[in-house]
Amino acid sequence: MRKKVIAGNWKMNLTFAEAQRLAASIKEDAGSYKHDVMLCPPFPYLTGLSQELQGSTIALGAQNCADRENGAFTGEVSAAMLASISIPYVIIGHSERRMYYHESHEVLKDKVGIALSNGLKPIFCCGETKEIRLAENAELHVDKQLDDSLFHLSDDDIQRVIIAYEPVWAIGTGLTATAQQAQDMHKFIRARLSGRYGAPIAERIIILYGGSVKPDNAAELFSQPDVDGGLIGGASLKAEDFKAIIKSI
Ligand code: PGA
Repeated sequence: MRKKVIAGNWKMNLTFAEAQRLAASIKEDAGSYKHDVMLCPPFPYLTGLSQELQGSTIALGAQNCADRENGAFTGEVSAAMLASISIPYVIIGHSERRMYYHESHEVLKDKVGIALSNGLKPIFCCGETKEIRLAENAELHVDKQLDDSLFHLSDDDIQRVIIAYEPVWAIGTGLTATAQQAQDMHKFIRARLSGRYGAPIAERIIILYGGSVKPDNAAELFSQPDVDGGLIGGASLKAEDFKAIIKSI
């Protein structure tokens, strides 16, 4: 049985004091969580929040890492730096990175490789835009994203990756994929994993859904057989909403 994971992607939000309060409030109820919970705050807050979360089971992830090991890349944060402060997870290929910072399949492939070689577990995001879905090319698009940036990985390495299906048209828009749309794409992704790595490995890989998950739609989405939890943006910034989502499974 795959475990369920609920991850909060805080994006570029909150002051440090607000971030501490939010983390403390999520930690308060951690004893009652039946699933893995992860917070992905902005880089500067990672160290402070790991202290805040000490003694709890709540994990931390970064929202990005560099596509280079180290050196003269002003403003970048390397996977090795994240590993050196014991951060276990890193989001790679979020649609906002692809869209606003023009991160290509090649760059994302490099980031995945560097994250893994530094002992981090990538949360690899994929998903189609509205235009691509309307043109009925959503599966083709996601397939290419997986093929170009993930499917070079070895059997061992792919099992250290979490995949997040995040339809771009559902991110921050209030439009959520229906539970059936999410399940259909998750099933497709698992079938592709199975084709490439075999069914036993595909069955072990966690596939999260992201895109306007809220307390009132989380239970239905997460009850789908191939939806193993969520990557939550907006609703992860409100302690009550995020906790309600965690408890909805
Ligand atoms: P959202 O964001 O929940 O605000 O739609 C999800 C994400 O971008 O990971």
